[in-house]
Amino acid sequence: YGTACINKEGHLEVGGIDVVSLAEHYGTPLYIYDVALIRQRARGFKNTFEQLGVTAQVAYASKAFAAIGMMQLANQEGLSLDVVSGGELYTAMKAGFPAERIHFHGNNKSREELVMALEHRIGCIVVDNFYELELLESICKEKSEKVNILLRVTPGIEAHTHDYILTGQEDSKFGFDLNNGQAEEALKRAMDMTGVEVLGLHCHIGSQIFETTGFKLAADKIIQKLSEWKNRFQFESKVLNLGGGFGIRYTEEDEPLEPAKYVEEIIKEVQKKTDEHNLAMPEIWIEPGRSLVGDAGITLYSIGSEKFVPEVRKYLAIDGGMNDNIRPALYNAKYEAILANRANDPVEETVSIAGKCCESGDMLIWDLPLPKASHNDLLAVFCTGAYGYSMANNYNRIPRPPVVFVENSQAELVIRRESYDDLVKLDLPLNVTVKQ
Ligand code: LLP
Repeated sequence: YGTACINKEGHLEVGGIDVVSLAEHYGTPLYIYDVALIRQRARGFKNTFEQLGVTAQVAYASKAFAAIGMMQLANQEGLSLDVVSGGELYTAMKAGFPAERIHFHGNNKSREELVMALEHRIGCIVVDNFYELELLESICKEKSEKVNILLRVTPGIEAHTHDYILTGQEDSKFGFDLNNGQAEEALKRAMDMTGVEVLGLHCHIGSQIFETTGFKLAADKIIQKLSEWKNRFQFESKVLNLGGGFGIRYTEEDEPLEPAKYVEEIIKEVQKKTDEHNLAMPEIWIEPGRSLVGDAGITLYSIGSEKFVPEVRKYLAIDGGMNDNIRPALYNAKYEAILANRANDPVEETVSIAGKCCESGDMLIWDLPLPKASHNDLLAVFCTGAYGYSMANNYNRIPRPPVVFVENSQAELVIRRESYDDLVKLDLPLNVTVKQ
C-alpha cells in the first residue's frame, strides 16, 4: 500500500522510514500513517470531480480518524470536514479548520451542540429528524440567525460490501424516510421556517461498499423525488450529498474500485437522471472516511507471549488488541499482517494473533501465515487507519497508543502515547468513609 516497501535490511519501511526505528523511538503499539497515501486518495477524489467539470465538496468523515493533525492535513488538501459531535467539532476548531467547510451530522444533536455549531458559523447542518428541525429553528429564532441545512433522507437502500437491499421503507435510526412522506413533510416544514435555508438533500447508504449500484439507485430515487418537489413546491436542491462508504482492500478477498471510479460512475448517473428530469445539476458532496485514511494506517505491535494448543493452534500475543482495534471483535473484521523486522523471511507456520485484554474474544487475526516469530519480533497490521484510533478504548485500563505521521523520510507525532496519569486524571478519590 502507498509508500510501504521492504528495505535492504528486510524491514518494513513507510514514508521512507524504517518502522523498526519508529518502534525503537516511539515504542509499541504504534499507529503509523502514510501521509503521502492520504494526500493521493484525497486528490484522487478531488481531481475526478474537476475532470468531470462538476462542482463538488469532498468532506473527510472525521469519525474514521479524528485528531487535530489529521484535520489540518485534510485542510491542507482542500477537503471539507464532516463532524458528528461537539467533540469532533471542538477538535476541528482547535485544528483551525475553516468553519464554512464543516458539515455537522448526527441523529441526536443536543441543543448545546447546535448552539456551538451556530456560534462557530459552520457551513451546514445535516438535519436528521423533526425534533432537530424544530430545535434548530427555535435556536435560530432566539439568536436571529439563519443557517444552511441539508435534510438527511433514507431512500430505502441499504448497502454493505457487495449486497444492497431495496426496501420500501428503511429500518434505520437515521434520517427522514423518502418513501412514506416523512421527507416531504420535513421539506415543507423547513421551507416555511425563517431560521433555516434548505440547501439540499443528504443520504448515506452504508460503509465498506464495493460497487456503485447502491449509490446509483439512491441517487435515482432522490432525483425522482426532487423532480416531483420542483413541480409541487418549486424546490430546487442546490446540493446533493451522497455520503461516504467507498470500500477499501483489507485482505485479498476485498475488491474495491479506485476512488475515481466510484465518483465517475455515480456522477454519470446523476447527470443522466437530472437531464432526464430537466433538473439543473446540483453541487455534489461526498463524505469518504475509510477510503481516505484506511489503507494509509498501519499498527505496529511487539510480540510477547505464546501459547501452543497441541494439534489445534499456536497463539502469539501482542502488546495491543481490542483496545486499539476493536473491529475484529465487533465486526469479525479481517486484516493482513507481516513481521515488520523480518519481512522477507519465508512463511513457516500459521499462528493466531491474540490481544492482551482479559477477554477471549480479543483476537486480532486468526490463522495468519508467518515466519517463526517470537518475543523479539514486531508485527505490522495493515489497513488500520480508519476506525482504529477513533474507536480505541481503555478497557482494562490500557493506555491508548500514539499516532505518528510519516512522509518524505520525516516522522511527526500527532497524538502522544497515553500515560497512566492520563488514565486516572478524571478519577476523584472517594470522600465517603465507612461508618463504624
Ligand atoms: N457519512 C455518514 C453519514 C456516515 O454515517 C459515515 C459512516 C460516513 C460518511 C463515512 O463512511 P466511510 O466512508 O468511512 O465508510 N465503525 C465502522 C464504520 C461505521 C461507519 C459509520 N458511518 C467500521 O469500523 O467499519
